[in-house]
Amino acid sequence: MELLRLLLLLVLAIGTSEGCQVQSSSSETTKDWWETAQFYQIYPRSFKDSDGDGIGDLNGITSKLEYLKDLGVTAAWLSPIYTSPMVDFGYDISDFFDIQPEYGTLEDFRALIKRAKELDLKIILDFVPNHSSNESVWFKKSVKREKGYEDYYVWHDGKINPETGAREPPTNWLQYFRGSAWEWNEERQQYYLHQFAVQQPDLNYRNPLVVDQMKRVLRYWLNEGVSGFRCDALPPLFEVLPDADGQFPDEVVSGATEDSEDRDYLTTTYIENQPETIDMVYQWRTVLDDHKRIYGGNSSVLLIETYSPAWFTMQFYGNRSTEGAHLPFNFNLITVMEQRGLNASNVQEAIDLWLNNMPAGRTANWVIGNHDKLRASTRYGKEHIDAMNILVMILPGVSVTYQGEELGMTDGKISWEQTVDPWGCNSNADIYEKYSRDPARTPFQWTSGANAGFSDGNSTWLPLADDYQTVNVEQELSDELSHLKIYKALVALRKSSKTLQNGSIKYQATADNVLIVQRSLTSSATIVGVINFGSAAVTVDLSQFDKSRTESLQLLIRSIDSTKTEGTRYDPKTLSLDPAEALVLTTE
Ligand code: NOJ
Ligand code: MG
Repeated sequence: MELLRLLLLLVLAIGTSEGCQVQSSSSETTKDWWETAQFYQIYPRSFKDSDGDGIGDLNGITSKLEYLKDLGVTAAWLSPIYTSPMVDFGYDISDFFDIQPEYGTLEDFRALIKRAKELDLKIILDFVPNHSSNESVWFKKSVKREKGYEDYYVWHDGKINPETGAREPPTNWLQYFRGSAWEWNEERQQYYLHQFAVQQPDLNYRNPLVVDQMKRVLRYWLNEGVSGFRCDALPPLFEVLPDADGQFPDEVVSGATEDSEDRDYLTTTYIENQPETIDMVYQWRTVLDDHKRIYGGNSSVLLIETYSPAWFTMQFYGNRSTEGAHLPFNFNLITVMEQRGLNASNVQEAIDLWLNNMPAGRTANWVIGNHDKLRASTRYGKEHIDAMNILVMILPGVSVTYQGEELGMTDGKISWEQTVDPWGCNSNADIYEKYSRDPARTPFQWTSGANAGFSDGNSTWLPLADDYQTVNVEQELSDELSHLKIYKALVALRKSSKTLQNGSIKYQATADNVLIVQRSLTSSATIVGVINFGSAAVTVDLSQFDKSRTESLQLLIRSIDSTKTEGTRYDPKTLSLDPAEALVLTTE
């Protein structure tokens, strides 16, 4: 017995040996399309303008689908294209069943889907379940307490302050975009909850009519031929149940910031990550699977936006008895670096955080940016953009590219006067840069010409980023080596490599700030990624990392400033790396 315990301890000790991680290989079963897909996020307002109004649109996207095909993209997720007053640039939807006129018509959407199908590209829409616009007919009816709509939103009388006698909001809850999460409605004489902007009232998921209505939304767009949904803002979907007197609890001060308008000022115990939210996603999965059972065709997918701790996020995948989301987004490569800075051991930790918590048999995913974060090139540093693209493509599972990451696009400079993002606008000229998401939303850079080839109009809805004359598709396709060409080579490698699709992983951050990622599969070539996150030149000995790594390795892909040559073989025992150099090598 004692011997057995000792043996067990030994096994555990080896398994957790510092800085070296092994994941068992997923079996080489046939995978569904989304398990090996390359996802690409389009921010429609900024992708391509077809009619010269300076605002991207559906026909613009349709005209550029071949570009996505050329990149090797499998599925494109479009940020919201529905009718909207554009307070939150489409995340405030007034009609969930129609297209925003600036972006086109339902006919244009159908043409987009048709062209995508011809090119064998899948289209995924943004599903925004937490709230509607205050201009939605549902909200207007709810304000008037029209039959069936009385409880569509979270209404509350508020509290009477015993000292002043004045009416106050029901709780101290804060919205994401700064300030109270409650707004008084004169007409209905009640407060409504809005976890985002005042113009984005929260739908009431404790009302079965709302649950049904939002399932109708899913079915409607599935019938229009979409291949799934990126589901917006899951953490605030449900709030805690009120007590017997109908009162909600206050949140407590978190200590994270002194700024009492900032959402982080309070905890979010009662307004985020409730168990009912997980169950709702399981219900949506059933809607998708039922649709496939009835109408046939490919699986459609659910990608879940949730900046939550692992214990909550991982539940979205489903459990032993229920399927959930195909892919809850993994934002660790964003959030861990935002908190602690970019280096090899922090990247290792971000990888651990996902792989060590993900339930068995599920598909991992890797994300380095989106329309809510500063652009990857700006956040990680321009010199690391190839490294980060390499990383997300050689880790197991799938990755999601935000438009422009393939080019190394950087943030635009947006003055306070030019700021349009509500998160920025709700602050002030001194602090708006901490909040505004406009810099990552500047027009996509197609050419070095007028408006970067984005629009023929006189102006664009946000100014262009400074570097568009050098960082653009036209230029990068003609350069011998470019971020774009590296990106394309990576997508192609993942498509063709059984090892990257099915292999096991071993990874380690070295003391020299180098990250080594090795993917192996029996009877297939081993792939090794080596990234120097440091600012000093170093030499690594890969046989220290894996003692079988003694034979020379062939270079497949290198970061833009690397002076090595593709196709050349390198000695793994003395692999030199310049600062920020990133390489993908193979045993073949
Ligand atoms: C998350 C979206 O990504 C963001 O852009 C939006 O402002 C909020 N959800 C509210 O819908
Ligand atoms: Mg337009």
